[in-house]
Amino acid sequence: MLLGEAGTHRIEGWHQGMVQAVSSRPDHSLRMGVIGVGVMGSNHARVLSGLPDVRLVAVVDPDIAHRDFVTRALDCRGLDDLESLIAAGVDAVTIAAPTHLHHDLALACINRGIHVLVEKPIASSVEEGHSIIRAANRAGVTLMVGHVERFNPAVRAIKEAVRGEDILSIAITRVGPFPPRMSNVGVVIDLAVHDIDLIRWFTESEIVEVQPQLSSAVAEREDIALLQFRTASGVLAHINTNWLTPFKARTIHVATRKKYIIGDLLTRQVTECFGFQPDGSYSMRHLSVGHDEPLRAELMAFVSAIRNGTRAPVTGEEAVASLDIAIRCLQRQEVTTVSPRKGPRRVAV
Ligand SMILES: NC(=O)c1ccc[n+]([C@@H]2O[C@H](COP(=O)([O-])OP(=O)(O)OC[C@H]3O[C@@H](n4cnc5c(N)ncnc54)[C@H](O)[C@@H]3O)[C@@H](O)[C@H]2O)c1
Repeated sequence: MLLGEAGTHRIEGWHQGMVQAVSSRPDHSLRMGVIGVGVMGSNHARVLSGLPDVRLVAVVDPDIAHRDFVTRALDCRGLDDLESLIAAGVDAVTIAAPTHLHHDLALACINRGIHVLVEKPIASSVEEGHSIIRAANRAGVTLMVGHVERFNPAVRAIKEAVRGEDILSIAITRVGPFPPRMSNVGVVIDLAVHDIDLIRWFTESEIVEVQPQLSSAVAEREDIALLQFRTASGVLAHINTNWLTPFKARTIHVATRKKYIIGDLLTRQVTECFGFQPDGSYSMRHLSVGHDEPLRAELMAFVSAIRNGTRAPVTGEEAVASLDIAIRCLQRQEVTTVSPRKGPRRVAV
């Protein structure tokens, strides 16, 4: 099973080490479960099983093949429904089931006092997202959303480089081939929502204008999106995303008044141009970038927020704001389908 957007490793190959790690957990470990162990959830399970002071109690998935694959690799229990996981006793869960199930699964856990990290996007709609936030506030549990790119060391280096700078523009490219299995969302909800979150996070400002261009060249849903934004602070940003590129590319360019920063999220190389001179010359330097696995850093941050009772580093409110912008991009226009055989047609989104 290959990793999703967030990861860089295969789940195979670490079975032995994980078995030892799980069996040596001390009793005060945080008891955790993973709900949905497909592409993303299997990685949650792998990472959680190796975290200090965390005990992966069980994973839940109605798909026997997915469940067995993970339970065999990690030597943890596999359950076929959420109620069995709750009965087994967990302090916290991560939810990586399909997005349309996030709301009901999150509420079922939150209402039992269980801390929740739910994968991005937080839910299928803004209303569902707000309902999850309200439930978490009522129950007093930690709610975090898996916008894992914030934990990518290259992204963190860019965030550091722009801290206190006057950001002028942001250009993000996130392209690649079609995923092996198509879900019921297009590139805006699946991919661009990562970058909408990054634009809001870098600028610390809300997006107030969206100008989307969408097209459905091959898939039913939009598979090309060129999205332009303006933030309340006046930053112009754009996202170029598609599933039509034969290779993956993930780049971020940020222009500030004094710097130009270029980051490659895959090679994790971040370069800063600075010291602009009237003759057009300037200096360049490579910024130091860490080596953490983003998902491990994200899950450690979730555990730390639970243990210390601190604010989750990616809150439900932030995730809903990003989902809201993504949905606005879809609502602003119809998708144009380009088909050489059938000719252009319009489909409602
Ligand atoms: N943060 C990221 O970079 C990233 C990357 C990929 C996916 N995701 C998100 O993760 C979620 C899952 O995506 P995926 O690509 O792993 O999908 P997937 O289809 O590979 O996995 C989903 C799993 O959930 C299981 N499932 C279905 N109903 C369930 C239920 N009621 N209870 C428990 N499990 C159930 C399915 O059997 C499947 O194994 C989505 O919300 C997606 O947006 C995030």
